[in-house]
Amino acid sequence: MEISQQVPVFVALDVDHADKARLVVQTLGDAATYYKVGLELFLAAGSGLVSELVDQGKRIFLDLKFHDIPNTVRAATREAAKLGVDFITVHALGGKDMLVAAQEGVQAGSGFADGHTKVLAVTILTSHAVADLAAIGLKFHDPKENVLNLATLAEQAGVHGVVCSPHEVAMIRANTGLAAMVPGIRPTGASANDQKRAATPSDAVRAGASYLVVGRPVVQAPDPKQALLAIQEEIDLALKLKEA
Ligand code: C5P
Repeated sequence: MEISQQVPVFVALDVDHADKARLVVQTLGDAATYYKVGLELFLAAGSGLVSELVDQGKRIFLDLKFHDIPNTVRAATREAAKLGVDFITVHALGGKDMLVAAQEGVQAGSGFADGHTKVLAVTILTSHAVADLAAIGLKFHDPKENVLNLATLAEQAGVHGVVCSPHEVAMIRANTGLAAMVPGIRPTGASANDQKRAATPSDAVRAGASYLVVGRPVVQAPDPKQALLAIQEEIDLALKLKEA
């Protein structure tokens, strides 16, 4: 079956050493073009590894979740864009000025790469429930209300999309023009690990996901390449059925 990449799958490189990440990339070979680098690997391996992967033609989602004053975030996103990554994340809770500054930084830095870095906003962390939001003191205690409010703010600031759980995708797509990067994906029959509100790749695609993030179900599979190909085939099938 020919694999389309209409909904790219970003493999999360959640490892603590550059060599472990290189081994995953080598094992997946041509089957994987898209990778997520988060705080753990970035701190363990540095930006050099990101550049190395970009030089190999890999497409990187750099998930460092910036949240600071606009000037600092502008400078950080500029440096991230210089690395040639496809996506970076910022917290929508940083506010509209910070979100606009993130876009400005990307534009300033993209001149150094090929100009394609896009900003994704994180709305409410999926680890937060009603009680956590009340304790923080947010006006709305319902996570969904906050997600929609922050996604609307992010859209007004001009960001490309949001990171959201499979259970929020349909709401985001119905109410905004934002793209949705969706983690918490578990192929049918796979262990949920610590993901409490996981969904299958087909569910996420049917709900309107633009990109998926998958970590352990691929990286820790007995045959990672096969596991990734099976997910990509499931996505293709779901897209065909959706279009039919
Ligand atoms: O191994 P697993 O597929 O659960 O990895 C999912 C990746 O997506 C991890 O890197 C995790 O930090 C990230 N993520 C998530 N839920 C969110 C945001 C990010 O699982 N709401």
